[in-house]
Amino acid sequence: MHEFKYKNNRLYCEGVSVETLAKKFGTPLYVYSYATLIGHYNKLKSAFKPIEPLICYSVKANSNLSILKALVSAGSGLDIVSGGELFRAIKAGCPAKRIVYASVGKTDGEIRVSIKRGILSFNVESIAELENINRIAGIFNKVVNISIRINPDVEPKTHKFITTGKLTNKFGIDFDNAHEIIIQRHKFANLNISGLHIHIGSQITEADPYVAAILKVTSFIQKLKERGVGLEYLNIGGGLGIVYDKENPQTAEKFAQKILPLLKKTGLKIIMEPGRFIVGNAGILLTKVLYLKSTPVKKFVVVDAGMNDLVRPALYDAYHQILPTSYIPCPESCEKVDVVGPICESADYFAKGRKLPSVLAGDYLAVMSAGAYGFSMASNYNSRRRAAEVIVKGNKVFLIRKRESFMDLIRDEIVVEL
Ligand code: LLP
Repeated sequence: MHEFKYKNNRLYCEGVSVETLAKKFGTPLYVYSYATLIGHYNKLKSAFKPIEPLICYSVKANSNLSILKALVSAGSGLDIVSGGELFRAIKAGCPAKRIVYASVGKTDGEIRVSIKRGILSFNVESIAELENINRIAGIFNKVVNISIRINPDVEPKTHKFITTGKLTNKFGIDFDNAHEIIIQRHKFANLNISGLHIHIGSQITEADPYVAAILKVTSFIQKLKERGVGLEYLNIGGGLGIVYDKENPQTAEKFAQKILPLLKKTGLKIIMEPGRFIVGNAGILLTKVLYLKSTPVKKFVVVDAGMNDLVRPALYDAYHQILPTSYIPCPESCEKVDVVGPICESADYFAKGRKLPSVLAGDYLAVMSAGAYGFSMASNYNSRRRAAEVIVKGNKVFLIRKRESFMDLIRDEIVVEL
């Protein structure tokens, strides 16, 4: 499943002991495995081979340029949500015709530059946005491809913060309004409505919600066909879940078995936007134990990474496995501890009441499955410098982002006399 394994009681990323990386580059440190990254991309690619979908990796999951470049070189397109992500996509060498752009709040500037670049499609989330893209495309005298993001109103059975396909969510357009738009498409002279898009949520571990959404969309496509409206693309979004704890998510194969027949039936070109599935288990966050602390009711392991480095536990109460980089057995008698960071918030934790082998100050811990929504959600809160990132390929190690400096923290500030 991933290339982080113990060899001779030391945790390795592919051919490199992660402890040596911690010593060389310092901590907190993100470590990625190239083989795991590309391996997951290839798993999806081969599971869906019969329909050869365009896989547009979702940049928001991990937007490091080297990660993007590696995926683009492997044939991936990119799913973006901002002008900043478009900038990264271009810097990573992604052909514009492999870029799709979703977001409920695209600005005029972001729309303009995307049109200039000639991206494959805007995934449009409201009628107001549709009118705006039509207007801006008109200024350029261009006809641009758009897909309507449908909100299919299905329950993805995931955390409420990462559910996106219910009518109570801000995303997408309901079927009735989408139908109205498509029937009135002559009003949008500068748009070519070439597809439909759905993205129902994230960390979805079963195929059923996808099946429900795709069935709804398929009957909508059929209804349109009967009215003489033909489409070219169906974009099924991302959302495939991974193993963090005891989840038993579907494999790419199982997922494909369930939805391939439905997708084939549409006769459309399929786009998918996986983020977490590709990069989630390809990264860890390495951190050093600073102090052990006991209160009358609890034991704390204080580490040098914080919620500014990995916010998922604080934000979603998310579970991440924690492994010592030197294997220490954890007998039944193992004590339960809270693993916490140095930040001035009680939400600054990586594990609560977790049975961990007894570690000492100076030991290193690996927070697992941190490749997706780890660094990309990191902040400078508490004026902490963002971590360095390295990627391992076999026995080779590449620094792909330097640790921020103190100067980086204040670079854009302007000190005025008040
Ligand atoms: N496409 C669209 C339109 C999306 O909004 C997203 C994620 C994806 C694709 C990729 O989803 P994935 O395959 O990675 O599940 N920060 C949260 C996850 C937020 C997901 C936002 N949208 C977390 O850490 O769990």
